[in-house]
Amino acid sequence: MWNDTEVARGLKLAAPIVQGPFGGGLSAVDLVVAVSEGGGLGSFGAHHLDGAGIRDVAGRIRARTRRPFALNLWIPLGDSDDPQLTDADWRAACERLRPYFDELGLPLPARPARFGPRYQEQIEALLELAPPVFSFVFGVPAPDVLERCRRSGTRTLGTATTPAEAKLLADAGVDMIVATGLEAGGHRVSFLARPEDCLTGTLALVPQVVDTVRVPVIAAGGIADGRGVAAALTLGAAAVQVGTAFLACEESNAAPPHRAKLFSEDARRTTLTRAFTGRLARGIHNGIIDALRDEESRLPPYPVHSWLMGQLRPAVLAAGRTDLISLWSGQSAPLLKHRRAAPLLASLVEEAGRLLT
Ligand SMILES: Cc1cc2nc3c(=O)[nH]c(=O)nc-3n(C[C@H](O)[C@H](O)[C@H](O)COP(=O)(O)O)c2cc1C
Repeated sequence: MWNDTEVARGLKLAAPIVQGPFGGGLSAVDLVVAVSEGGGLGSFGAHHLDGAGIRDVAGRIRARTRRPFALNLWIPLGDSDDPQLTDADWRAACERLRPYFDELGLPLPARPARFGPRYQEQIEALLELAPPVFSFVFGVPAPDVLERCRRSGTRTLGTATTPAEAKLLADAGVDMIVATGLEAGGHRVSFLARPEDCLTGTLALVPQVVDTVRVPVIAAGGIADGRGVAAALTLGAAAVQVGTAFLACEESNAAPPHRAKLFSEDARRTTLTRAFTGRLARGIHNGIIDALRDEESRLPPYPVHSWLMGQLRPAVLAAGRTDLISLWSGQSAPLLKHRRAAPLLASLVEEAGRLLT
């Protein structure tokens, strides 16, 4: 059977299809439950949550499904867990965005004590919760974290944008590897080299990663229908991770104007930008991307710029300003047809099955 892959067997899934996690508050328990109950692997991106938030999400997922699911975190990269920033840097970062704060009638924010939750707190919550799957991006967890996952039966799923990253993850003992091509929506999660130098497409990346590691590979980036699933499995992947197509479903926590954009003509033009978080990520092209293009090399490191942009977000959404918000999307958006997760999952399975049998 086409769907009886190493990943499906290992995780007891009816279909080798992972719903990609979404950071920044765009994941939703409803989406995780719909996908996991449908026989795929639902994932919740928890990097914006503290320990209590992660415990709450896991409790709500477990209350609604007994099927496997994944919790996802970002591994600290550089000084991202506690960015070193002088007061002058902070003031410059604020001044750069002053025109937007002014336009929306907001005061410039005061410097916060922290720019995001502590990773150590997040990982302690995750280890205590022992979810069926721990997926992560931007690096490799410490050996003792991987060891505790192994002991508690949590399967680990790391993410690579190059064969070298895949090898590092596999050598560290990570159970499965997502190979993510440049088509993917959201961040380029490279951690060994600049993301600008890790822009291989899924079609070329997946077989290279399959040839590099012995653990199962999950293909991500540009897959939004059964043709993509069939192609990825033919390339040697043991599952696919689908992001944009699930983000577009009503169960996700994407804002309605964002979801509408994914189905619009504008989604034909996506671009890689640092404008929203300071890190390179793919979204639908809009005005603020152009406005900040020349500033990209001078933006403060993640998560400082990301935190500042987050301060604008509620007012931007209230004003319906899609020229100013991040409209994350992969290159597959023009292929989207489904607005609910269950029919999307069913069509991926049905079409891939037809093509592969
Ligand atoms: C809005 C958005 C947020 C994302 N956040 C995360 C994240 O926090 N962690 C992660 O592992 N992957 C994240 N991803 C990547 C997806 O899980 C998935 O791998 C990717 O979207 C697959 O490519 P596709 O968009 O072409 O389907 C994100 C993707 C999007 C579109």
